[in-house]
Amino acid sequence: TDTASSSRPKVVLTRPLPTCILDEAKAAGAIDLKIWKDAERPADRDWLLRSVEGADAVLVMMSDKVDAELLDRAGPSLKIVSCMSVGYDHVDTAELKRRGIRLGHTPDVLNAAVADLVLLLILSTTRLLPNAKRTVDEGRWPQTPWAPLSFAGPSLQGKTIGFVGFGAIAQSTLLRLLPLGPTRYIYLNSSPQPFDLDNPKFAALKAGGLERLLPAYEAVQGSRISIENARDLEDLSRQSDVIVVLASLNAKTKHLIDGRCFDHMKPTAHLVNAARGPLVDTSALVSALQQGKMAGAGLDVLEGEPVIGASHPLLSDESIRDKVCLLPHMGSATLEARRGMSELAAANVLHQLGFAHLVEGRGS
Ligand code: DGY
Repeated sequence: TDTASSSRPKVVLTRPLPTCILDEAKAAGAIDLKIWKDAERPADRDWLLRSVEGADAVLVMMSDKVDAELLDRAGPSLKIVSCMSVGYDHVDTAELKRRGIRLGHTPDVLNAAVADLVLLLILSTTRLLPNAKRTVDEGRWPQTPWAPLSFAGPSLQGKTIGFVGFGAIAQSTLLRLLPLGPTRYIYLNSSPQPFDLDNPKFAALKAGGLERLLPAYEAVQGSRISIENARDLEDLSRQSDVIVVLASLNAKTKHLIDGRCFDHMKPTAHLVNAARGPLVDTSALVSALQQGKMAGAGLDVLEGEPVIGASHPLLSDESIRDKVCLLPHMGSATLEARRGMSELAAANVLHQLGFAHLVEGRGS
């Protein structure tokens, strides 16, 4: 192959990227590059295992599992695993740490894109979009003409939004929700964190101008807007009109949103998950929807994705499917965010291999 006998660092890339930094580094003779060329399909596991042999860096997508097997095949030359995603639950971080391999990921560049999509999911689920859209798409509009309460869902005015996970994406979402009128925001993080704008944990709110926005929206709405740490998940579940899941997935957070959580929810409440599917216990969600323990769900992610057949109960059970807006994991899918993510992931590789000068301040 092109990398067989070279002394240049070998970089393995599991998709063609919408950025040319790595191609430029290759053209400059800095690296050898091995690319899985199919833009639409995840890299074949066998191809990946063969390709990482002797690699110095591997740039992976969410669909590529990075485990001890892959790291063994790469061998001691591997210096960095760079993820083109903010989440890295597909990477065995303990193994990386044990072997002294760095981990790169792409926070911040996708905050706006994901927060926009969370807003879309909140509005889609509360305003009954799946039901309305299906009615029109299936030609049933004439049978359901305008009526005083047809397709009527709750407004967000005066409501409480509960964030499970309150990092930069959740904070960007809160900033976008302010004009829509919720008056109470409660949140949970991995450890209790009283709300304090001077705490760097709330930097995204500060950078987004919360200090100026809050009094402005309070004046417009004529009511106080509060932001508080919830006591615990039960407290958050009981109080929220919309629960927004934006936590990272790990052994502690798997099925964090479970049957007990649905038992505590208001029957009028909605759930939005734009983080990782396994944070929500899907069968508990299906039962909660079937039993009317909650009103609806907006999901950008689902356990078992992308293998979700039309027979999945969320899509096939006619008693609940109109209460569910399910999207194919597209939170970060703006052209700008995806370019930013690929650029940052590539820059992380080049920094780690000692080619920071080739990046020209494009990454970190
Ligand atoms: C991420 O970056 O972790 C998203 O889920 C995919 O864009």
